Amino acid sequence: MMSQPSLLVLYGSQTGTAQDTAQRIGRQAQRRHLQVQVLPLDHYNVASLISESLVVFVSSTTGQGDPPDNMKNFWKFVFRKSLPAGSLRNLDCAVLGLGDSSYPKFNFVAKKLHKRLLQLGAGMLLPVGLADDQHDLGADAVIDPWLKAFWEKVFSLYPSMAGVIPLREDEPLPPTYTFHFLDDATDKTEDRLRIPTEQSVPSQSRPFPARLVSNCRVTDSSHFQDVRHLEFDISGSNIQFSAGDVVMMHPCNAAEDVEQFCDLLRLDPGATFSLRATGSTAVPARLPQPCTVRHLVESYLDVAAVPRRSFFELLSTFATNDLEKEKLLEFSSAAGQDELHAYCNRPRRSALEVLADFPHTTAELKVDHLLDLFPEIQPRSFSIASSLKAHPDRLQVLVAVVRYKTKMYKPRRGLCSSWLASLDPDQGEVFVPLWVKKGSLKFPREKDPPVIMVGPGTGLAPFRSAIQERIAEGKHDNVLFFGCRSESKDFFYRSEWEEKKEAGHLTLFTAFSRDQEEKVYVQQRVRENAELLWDLIANRRACFYIAGNAKEMPTGVCDALKEVFQQQGGLSPEEAEQMLDTMERTGRFQSETWS
Ligand code: 2AM
Repeated sequence: MMSQPSLLVLYGSQTGTAQDTAQRIGRQAQRRHLQVQVLPLDHYNVASLISESLVVFVSSTTGQGDPPDNMKNFWKFVFRKSLPAGSLRNLDCAVLGLGDSSYPKFNFVAKKLHKRLLQLGAGMLLPVGLADDQHDLGADAVIDPWLKAFWEKVFSLYPSMAGVIPLREDEPLPPTYTFHFLDDATDKTEDRLRIPTEQSVPSQSRPFPARLVSNCRVTDSSHFQDVRHLEFDISGSNIQFSAGDVVMMHPCNAAEDVEQFCDLLRLDPGATFSLRATGSTAVPARLPQPCTVRHLVESYLDVAAVPRRSFFELLSTFATNDLEKEKLLEFSSAAGQDELHAYCNRPRRSALEVLADFPHTTAELKVDHLLDLFPEIQPRSFSIASSLKAHPDRLQVLVAVVRYKTKMYKPRRGLCSSWLASLDPDQGEVFVPLWVKKGSLKFPREKDPPVIMVGPGTGLAPFRSAIQERIAEGKHDNVLFFGCRSESKDFFYRSEWEEKKEAGHLTLFTAFSRDQEEKVYVQQRVRENAELLWDLIANRRACFYIAGNAKEMPTGVCDALKEVFQQQGGLSPEEAEQMLDTMERTGRFQSETWS
């Protein structure tokens, strides 16, 4: 008789959604009494795939069609030409992709992986699942039936599964870890701030604790938006970066949220524990051992994020109060997703606020389940705003503090930007663990061509880095289009630009949208300078860059640029479009936008 299969769920996740889905599959496997392991792809020794029998791959696709960071090594390995065609013939597997069809490379990674696994001889249990965030009913409209078909297939393939009765969805599962509280332990929480002695380059698994040198507001105090310029000391870190690169950091929860969470769960923030794995999932390397409850809640559990459906699924397993249980089960069900959206997503209600709404269930929560219930705080990325050539041993960022109103009484805050804004280096030393990553913007290495940069608002950040770097390298053909609301309120780094203009190292065009009756945007300045732009682009092969977070801005700037091509170059609308496409394909037109 065939033995019960053990399942491996491997995921590539950038923002935690694919991880959440992988963990959900893991719990479904546990309910079906399977041995299961859930791992990020890069934590798995890929060479062992040849001896696996049953694997589910879950992967998202990032903006440009690239794989998430935690599967980049796997990606390189699996596409090696030297891998023999039939090497995975003993493997039964399935691929589930998480994507968004409003992007041109919709679920590109999952589709490509599916094809490659077939090429390597793997048996596919079912067609690749292509979940779509744009679906009217959300990604689960694809995931739920796909998983149902997956389990049917597994049950039919393995005779040993016949007669297995899954645990009910509302029965609690054993936790992934157990907490062992220690009476007399040395707190190792500060260990993460120890400067590494080895000469490795800082990374997500080994960030560098950078000292915060300054944190200044760069918008006028009367301006609605708080924007910060922060400087970090990275001396001794081995960190190198070029213009266009990004810095990654793990933010912390606000002190008041940590306190409220501990109150709700009746936890002593000062208590010290060590974690033990109950199965094969290793204890998170990011948590020191032993660790304080305060550190866990402050820097690891994402209690301020809007909870996902899986949070309600898990929470419902603890509910003993009938009313609360009924509501939680509704939010967990496929039929309850509209209601869940209205309750959580639309008003951006946090997991912590949900706990407060379900007091009976919250009182039943056991500490051992915290790491299953709350996802890990994900790192955030910011465009680096400085160059090592102008500021050696320093790394600077320009951060808009996110704050907005919904129907919730308390205004909503961006976790990372609010946390950064709250750090005060004058109140004692502050260290922020960080690492850097290659960004998508690439600037020319040679002295020519000139660069034209359009960066309204905080879109200015990567261009400040590029301008500093280029000037230090003697490249003085720099054209910057900057837009903000008011010359006196949010014109970032004004004196620096004036100095560079004076020195003949920068041509600057500004658009202050609200300093006059009529709105003026950067694209208007692009149109007004058609002759100069055409000369730089057509005759001197200039590169053109756009960065920023205004939703319609990139389209507006592209339209203006195509008009320049038509007006100055005598091109037809189609030829202008084609010219921009060619520039994009050859790296002469690049954009980086964020929301
Ligand atoms: P506004 O807020 O007055 O509309 C940085 O955010 C600057 O970008 C602001 O001056 C903002 O103007 C402007 N902005 C907003 N929407 C834009 C768009 N579609 N194109 C260009 N700039 C825009």
